[in-house]
Formats: sequence, C-alpha cells, structure tokens
Amino acid sequence: MTTAVTGRNTGSPMPSKITVPELRARKSSAGRGEKLAMVTAYDATFARMFDGAGVDAILVGDSLGMVIQGGTSTLPVTLDEVIYHCRAVARGTQRAHIIGDMPFMSYQTSPDAALLSAGRLMKEGGAESVKLEGGQEIADVIRRMVRMGIPVMAHVGLMPQRVHAMGGFKVQGRSDDGAEAILEDAIAVAEAGAYAVVVEGVPAPLAERITNAIEVPTIGIGAGVGCDGQILVSYDLLGLNDTMKPRFVKRFQEFFRLGVEATRTYVDEVRSSTFPGPEHSFGLPVEPRNPVADALSPRHAPATYGPTH
Ligand code: KIV
Repeated sequence: MTTAVTGRNTGSPMPSKITVPELRARKSSAGRGEKLAMVTAYDATFARMFDGAGVDAILVGDSLGMVIQGGTSTLPVTLDEVIYHCRAVARGTQRAHIIGDMPFMSYQTSPDAALLSAGRLMKEGGAESVKLEGGQEIADVIRRMVRMGIPVMAHVGLMPQRVHAMGGFKVQGRSDDGAEAILEDAIAVAEAGAYAVVVEGVPAPLAERITNAIEVPTIGIGAGVGCDGQILVSYDLLGLNDTMKPRFVKRFQEFFRLGVEATRTYVDEVRSSTFPGPEHSFGLPVEPRNPVADALSPRHAPATYGPTH
C-alpha cells in the first residue's frame, strides 16, 4: 500500500486514495490482472470495515431504498438521501474510491439535471465519481458529464430503476436480440467516456462478451466470473438480508443470525441482572482479571464515561 499524504489531525500517515485512472487501468486485458472488488455501503462504520478490508471502491447505492429503508424498489430514493449516506461513508473511508449512485429521475430528464445532481453528490456528499443506469439513450448525458470533469460509472443489463418496465427483477439479455442490445449499450456508454460499467443480471457468457468488447473495466453482479471486477450489496454479502437470497448472492457471513443471537444473550443478561457487571459500572470495585492486568490497570473501574476504543 502506498502512503502519501499525512492525516490532518493525527500527523499519522494516511493511505492514498484509489483514483479513477487507477480503477480504469485495472482492465484485465490491460494486463494488470487483479480484479476490482467493490461493495455498497451506507454509513461510516461499514465504510471503515470495508475500507480496512481492502475493497477498491465503495458504492453508496440507491439499493439503500431496499436494505436501509425497507422498500420494495429503489425508485423512491431521493438525491438528498443518497447525499446524506454518501457523507457518512466519506467520513469512514480513507483509501477506497467512493461512488455516489444517481437516484431515479435525478439525471434522466436532461444533461443539465444530470450535471446538477452529480455536482451535489460530489460537493455535498463527498463522492469521487457517480454511477447512473442506462445504455445508448443515456450516452450523450454521460459524454457531457465526462467533459465537465465528472467521472461516470455506467450500469447496463438489469437496471433496477426500470423494474416496472422489466416486469420485475429479471435476468436480462437471454434472447439473441436482448443480448445484442445490452452489448450495444455497454459499447455506447464506454465510448461516451464511462470509466467502468456495472453489468447486472445477465447470462455469464454475455458479460464475458461485453468485457472483451469494451476498453474499460466491467463490474459484474449476477453476471458470472468473466468480468473485470465484482460488486455485491453489502447486506447480501454479510448475510444481513435474511428475507431473500438470490442465486447470484454468496453470503460470506450470517450477520443477521449472529445479531439475533447476540441480542438474545443481551436480553437474557438484562433480565437476569448479569449485565451490566461491575466492569461496566462506575464507582464499584472491579475484581482483578489476572495479575498482569491488575498491575497494568487500576483496581477500580475508570471514572471516565467516554469512548473505550
Ligand atoms: O444500488 C446499488 O447498490 C447498485 C449495485 C447493486 C450495483 O446499483
């Protein structure tokens, strides 16, 4: 890991940020090999966790409408809401690149609307690039944004903001015509200047064709292993979404189950007066845990109330 700038308040070295040119250069055909690993995040704590784990980029996705707000689609999410979550993620992130997702109708009406919305995501939310859904029909908007210095990640295939037009969250590009249209979409947005393209919910062979056809990295979700990188909604990855598990999701942990178990233990300990113990209380003698700990720390619980970590 390279270290360049110095932390403003601490004087400690801060890892340098992953930039758009670095992400773009990770195209597999460019010979750099290492795939891009991306996740979504919506708050500072999760961002810190993912940043520390070494993800390349964090998307503040409009999926927040489903996993944070409990909705059935991403359509109601507003620009102000994405900005709010983006700001929190930016506070928790030192190294990963931060992408702000452009919500439904924040960019479709005109290039000017798109520029203003993207500008707010970057100025107020701390996003370093933006993502929008669309293919050939949105290419001119992307071109204008890129000319104005706004890095754009495109998103083709299954576009969740078009859930009603698609008749549900369904795999796209199964027919020959459908596959050709998605390939054309990917080519159009890449030629318009998108620095990467999310390819969602398409057959794996089509995602591989797209990856071979365009010069910028493809980021797959539900699109097989043939992309230049992958993204997952973090609540799916961590097993926090207990209500459904689509085929393309792999749960790398079962955090929802672990959370229920931990909370059950808390409830039991509160009811049995086991929690809080003396070590969690003020003004009570604390039993020494072992001679070394006793030598190193006072025999009484500290009087401070502040952060313990
Ligand atoms: O909103 C989102 O989280 C996304 C990813 C699933 C790509 O668009």
